[in-house]
Amino acid sequence: MDALHHGGPATQSTRQQLRQQIRLQRQALTPHQQEQASKAVLARFTQLKTIRDARHIAIYLSNDGELDTGPLIDWIWRQGKNVYLPVLHPFSKGHLLFLHYRPDSPMRCNRYGIAEPALDVRLVKPVHELDIVCTPLVAFDDQGQRLGMGGGYYDRTLSQWHQSGLGPQPLGLAHDCQQVRHLPSEAWDVPLPAILTPSAYHHW
Ligand SMILES: Nc1ncnc2c1ncn2[C@@H]1O[C@H](COP(=O)(O)OP(=O)(O)O)[C@@H](O)[C@H]1O
Ligand SMILES: [Mg+2]
Repeated sequence: MDALHHGGPATQSTRQQLRQQIRLQRQALTPHQQEQASKAVLARFTQLKTIRDARHIAIYLSNDGELDTGPLIDWIWRQGKNVYLPVLHPFSKGHLLFLHYRPDSPMRCNRYGIAEPALDVRLVKPVHELDIVCTPLVAFDDQGQRLGMGGGYYDRTLSQWHQSGLGPQPLGLAHDCQQVRHLPSEAWDVPLPAILTPSAYHHW
């Protein structure tokens, strides 16, 4: 196996460097650039047939310079569709639960300092009952390969979809500056079938 493109320690350090570099780039976007980016993505998002047909949409609250999902969440609510947010699984390390999210949901801060709905088993939505999982990412490449923050949470969430094609459609959301030519991927990485940025709808 080619150590540079699969698996080896060289791959790990390249991935770490890329995470660092791209996170700094998106953190450097000004509030005005963030606002314009979010508006542009919203305009595309609302036109997607998969989104218009969806009733149960998982998304996430932005942090670390990520594209602002706030306007998307408001639009989904206004359409009368259901919004779900990821919550760190309380026992199963590395796994996410998706909880129904409403404007008045009680929130708490998780171990990464990200707000999440307070855990309530009645609000848990099984992943296979979601229609779309809007997926955060740090970097993506020409083939839809995805680099996350390094926890592997979405690789686990999407692995069943990746293996069987059943379950919710993943849709990556990102700034244009998060695109790179080629990402060194690992066996467990789940490539995304579609990614929305302010200037393009990439799909494979
Ligand atoms: N489906 C999976 N099952 C078990 N472990 C996984 C799975 N997906 C990812 N992991 C583990 O999660 C860790 C982080 O994955 P990585 O792809 O580097 O993070 P990210 O996707 O957040 O960039 C890796 O050590 C990997 O072994
Ligand atoms: Mg991964």
